[in-house]
Amino acid sequence: MSTPAAQPGGSARPEQALGPSLVLDAAGMDGTGTAGGLAPPDQVTREDHLSLPALRRRFPALGRLVHDRRLVYLDSAATALKLDDVIDAQANHYRRSGANAHRGLHTLADEATTAYEQARERVAHWVRAPGTDCVVITRSTTAGLNLLARGLEPSLQAGDEVLLTEMEHHANLVPWIQLAQRAGIVLRHIPLTDQGTLDLGQLATLMTPRTRVVSLTYVSNVLGTINPIAAIAEAAHAMGALVVLDAAQAVGHMPVDFGDLGADLMVFSAHKAYGPMGLGFLVGTSEALDRLAPLEGGGQMIREVHLQHATWEDLPLRLEAGTADVASATAFVAAMDMLDRIGLDQVLARDRELTGYALQQLGGLGGLQLLGPADPERRGALISFHDPQLHPHDLATLLDEQGVAVRAGHHCAQPLHRKLGLPATTRASFGVYSGRDDVDALIDGIAFARRFFS
Ligand SMILES: Cc1ncc(COP(=O)(O)O)c(C=O)c1O
Repeated sequence: MSTPAAQPGGSARPEQALGPSLVLDAAGMDGTGTAGGLAPPDQVTREDHLSLPALRRRFPALGRLVHDRRLVYLDSAATALKLDDVIDAQANHYRRSGANAHRGLHTLADEATTAYEQARERVAHWVRAPGTDCVVITRSTTAGLNLLARGLEPSLQAGDEVLLTEMEHHANLVPWIQLAQRAGIVLRHIPLTDQGTLDLGQLATLMTPRTRVVSLTYVSNVLGTINPIAAIAEAAHAMGALVVLDAAQAVGHMPVDFGDLGADLMVFSAHKAYGPMGLGFLVGTSEALDRLAPLEGGGQMIREVHLQHATWEDLPLRLEAGTADVASATAFVAAMDMLDRIGLDQVLARDRELTGYALQQLGGLGGLQLLGPADPERRGALISFHDPQLHPHDLATLLDEQGVAVRAGHHCAQPLHRKLGLPATTRASFGVYSGRDDVDALIDGIAFARRFFS
């Protein structure tokens, strides 16, 4: 399940040509170590959105120094840095009004409802949802998956099967484990090949007439593997199963077309796509969403409430109980706008170029076990690796001292790490602001850590 080091022993860094429209110079800073001189949004041109230094200036956190070093943020898979327009839009909601959506008739309440519903419409268009009512606003990917597993429970019977994979994040394991414990559901898992891809040869035996749900990740948050969703969805639908897609690591990195993917339900979080924390989305066909019993009650999800019974609103409000995060929903529009100005095809191309470069440079260090497919075309913008010479926590701590932020641990995928025989790995992950200079800083940092511990 690991990619052999590409260039064992070779540590030279080839000076490769840069991508067509991306200028990789120094740090993207203004020379003072701060991201000064932010261009007002109305003066930001398309070229600015394609130039790495200008893009970096749009992310205020990159202006920080960490241990007196330029911040090299390689933890975007955990959460992406926040765009200036997102931060401003969120603050502006509270500054100008702070009103609740779907509650009042006064001007501020009406504006909040309009902005909230416009954000929903924008997301629906962005991921090509079947309709605006097919977008449920949630708290996160995790909240969406819990809502699903609980919401489907009344339509499942003991002995029904849910098919998952061995590469899932805990968010797509634990809600199903809890469902299995409550309702006697049988859990099965698609195993992995040695290349860190799904062993689809096993599908025919793993899917049975009792398979009701197939739930899997689009992009693995550890291996980086991009799964062939359309093919799996076709096989699942042939068995009459619902397909649930965890798109947490895909949205914001590639064009995501819900219709083309063929899933019935899809979840993702705004914070991994440069938006606010505490905001996520559940997208589905109306037939699949109609099957979901509401997990939570109260607020705008009701139609009528009596003392002994109540009836529910139509979709999507039926699945949105309580006060919504209007500020975050409206702020996320700015993140989608930024990504659309760059072009998600361009974001994907750039991710691949940078991931390819990082795989090559990490391979050049020698002795590292790189996880996941060797081909950058088959993976997302992250690389997990194991260095037998260094504990991931020691490495992450030494990297941090050099301003390099990576993630070390099991990345909320303990079963996968158990399968790999590794208690923990180190993960470097990229965002639109990442460049080859960041990868170079990582490589220098690992070399330094190795010297330090040798
Ligand atoms: C593949 C995958 N699924 C689910 C999640 C959970 O996302 P959240 O914490 O935003 O709910 C993550 C977060 O890392 C993830 O990478």
